[in-house]
Amino acid sequence: MKYPLIAPSLLSADFSHFAAAVAAIEASGAEWLHLDVMDGQFVPNLTFGPKLVADLRSQSSAVFDVHLMTYTPENLVAAFAQAGADYITFHGEAVVHAHRLLGHIRTLGKKAGISIVPSTSVSGIEELLPFVDMVLVMTVDPGFGGQELIPSCLKKIKTLAYLREQGQYGFLISVDGGIHESTAPLALEAGADVLVTGSAFFKAQDKAALVRRLKGL
Ligand code: DX5
Ligand code: ZN
Repeated sequence: MKYPLIAPSLLSADFSHFAAAVAAIEASGAEWLHLDVMDGQFVPNLTFGPKLVADLRSQSSAVFDVHLMTYTPENLVAAFAQAGADYITFHGEAVVHAHRLLGHIRTLGKKAGISIVPSTSVSGIEELLPFVDMVLVMTVDPGFGGQELIPSCLKKIKTLAYLREQGQYGFLISVDGGIHESTAPLALEAGADVLVTGSAFFKAQDKAALVRRLKGL
């Protein structure tokens, strides 16, 4: 696998044309497809549930990267696993028993990710690092696409890369929020492996060219 991996987010797609958006993601050369699930409680917005993931699964061979921005994610992971998610990421801020939930996602045969919002430090999830397949660092306050990256969040990527090296862990570091051509190099320099991109991807006329540039090709 050639890093960084690019994960376009369906959040910025035209919701009346999901299949076309998925086809555009496939054609762009991006390896992942990021699916933002919002509950209107943990974040002030609503998106979609497992049915959309199940319906899109047959349309795409991309890695389905489900980002749960919800309270009680423990009530949802089985349905998203069944729907065809490959990675299921939930927020450390949304659960008490994160360790148990990571284990549960893995017993469902899926990769387990933990995410933190801009106001949470890495220390809040440090105990979980041996048990995760991915850490998703939010670089905007979650809920909406098209926001500006908060530069101070980038140092968390650096900290995670350092802790990964020290502990010889295998997790991927993903960065989500405000990623475009000018901010991607900063995230990559900090140590990100996966770049989530919503508005920049769907605004780009030539999506394949954008993906190549984000990958530094
Ligand atoms: C925000 C979502 C992001 C969003 C990123 O709450 O988690 O995945 O789609 O969109 P951009 O790239 O526009 O910031
Ligand atoms: Zn996301």
